[in-house]
Amino acid sequence: PVKVTKICCIGAGYVGGPTCAVIALKCPHITVTIVDLNQARVDAWNSPDFKLPIYEPGLDDVVRQARGRNLFFSTDVDKGIKEADLIFVSVNTPTKKSGVGAGFAADLNYVELATRRIAHVSESSKIVVEKSTVPCRTAESMRTILEANSKPNCRFDILSNPEFLAEGTAISDLFGPDRVLIGSLQTPEGKDACASLAGVYSNWVPTNRILSVGLWSSELSKLAANAMLAQRISSVNALSAICEATGANIDEVAHAVGYDSRVGNKFLRASVGFGGSCFQKDILNLVYLSESLHLPEVAAYWRQVVEMNEYQKKRFSKNVVDTLFNTITGKRIAVLGFAFKADTGDTRESAAITLIKDFQAERALVNIYDPQVEHNQIWADLTEAIPNTPLENIKKQVTISASALEACKGAEAVVIATEWKEFRDIDWALVYEGMNKPAFVFDGRLIIDAEKLRKIGFKVKTIGRGERV
Ligand code: NAD
Ligand code: UDX
Repeated sequence: PVKVTKICCIGAGYVGGPTCAVIALKCPHITVTIVDLNQARVDAWNSPDFKLPIYEPGLDDVVRQARGRNLFFSTDVDKGIKEADLIFVSVNTPTKKSGVGAGFAADLNYVELATRRIAHVSESSKIVVEKSTVPCRTAESMRTILEANSKPNCRFDILSNPEFLAEGTAISDLFGPDRVLIGSLQTPEGKDACASLAGVYSNWVPTNRILSVGLWSSELSKLAANAMLAQRISSVNALSAICEATGANIDEVAHAVGYDSRVGNKFLRASVGFGGSCFQKDILNLVYLSESLHLPEVAAYWRQVVEMNEYQKKRFSKNVVDTLFNTITGKRIAVLGFAFKADTGDTRESAAITLIKDFQAERALVNIYDPQVEHNQIWADLTEAIPNTPLENIKKQVTISASALEACKGAEAVVIATEWKEFRDIDWALVYEGMNKPAFVFDGRLIIDAEKLRKIGFKVKTIGRGERV
């Protein structure tokens, strides 16, 4: 197997950036160059005061140690490709917005453009690693493109190496992954390429956690893992509706069920709905794949996981309207949290967006506070979510506050949309003083002590609890 000394990563996003920064940190003998077409993003990665383009706990420490030593960020994609012996393709694969499979299939345009670029500029053999999440058999298309366009003496070996990090815990996930999955063709050359990549990870990952499988199994395992994780959340959220209708408590139910070692206790937290750039996209991708394979029952099964998530968000915003005496028109509602989960500034598919859109449609006045999300990002997300409404009109109904306390001032209700730790520690008595009465709190993340708040005077509604306010 080739001993890897130069790595190029195409795509300096949420995955390419942290993943390859950690490889550089753990493998000082390997030069790692992360390239991207987006100049602003690359500039941010290179910023002298480490104002990185993404917020991720522990990331700046990793970049501080490796940048300029054996970790580089650049917009010179061609140079990065030419010099590398191993290339990660870590570009975005969003859900297609138009054309065949719109709304379900993954848009593979960026993967294909990156692949064609590799074929076009390479002057020596490369191991090309599919890091992006892609539909099953994409590696085969990549191989066809590379082989059809390669120069003599250029060999391309394709590997699939999906990434399992979660945002907010990316660095600890990368330092100690449950497993690293590498898919390759089961030929001698394919197995050699697999061993080369395994050699990189084995600098810090125990070899029994590095799994080698076939290419297609590797690609499908990534979609399967996300589908099964999201399915757990939709299952627990479906049960939360039953809890609210019966007086059972979803925390107690999840605890009791999760105690069964076959079920396990992780990832059973009821919520206002899952968000993030992966779960919905990857399940829709699986649905599309199932349909293309003429497996409509399988497609319907997985589609329901996404439908339950939509239902959960709608159910939550309807609960707010119903509880506030069936109208929120002209009422001020504080939304605490805009990111799709705590410890990230990422807002892709965040449940908060859907809630605010629903409140806006009811003509409520919304104050948003999030400790990490940039204001411009909030405005961009709301403009996209609320069509045919110019931003200046949205701004008549929606404001962004500088603190949780400020957001809650004069509000009729507080909605907790993201589980930021600081929301647990707010001075709720002070919040209560500043609010209109009756003052309501809707906990979409199961983070507050409802009894304590009730003692202050709040009327509290929590996901998955049937008690009266
Ligand atoms: P992202 O949008 O943050 O980053 C992708 C980057 O690729 C962008 O900066 C874009 O400018 C760049 N890019 C696109 N085409 C390019 C090209 N031809 N040449 C150079 N640069 C190009 O996306 P992300 O969140 O990092 O996700 C990347 C992939 O990883 C996706 O397939 C996603 O499904 C998968 N994934 C994401 C996560 C996650 O938590 N975000 C986790 C696991 C897997
Ligand atoms: C997910 C997968 O966990 C990760 O392995 C994969 O590589 C990318 O997709 P991510 O989307 O970054 O990671 O975060 P995750 O922690 O999985 O949370 C996704 C959403 O589910 C968030 O909105 C989160 O709040 C929600 N969630 C998670 C719940 O509602 N309940 C839970 O018990 C867990």
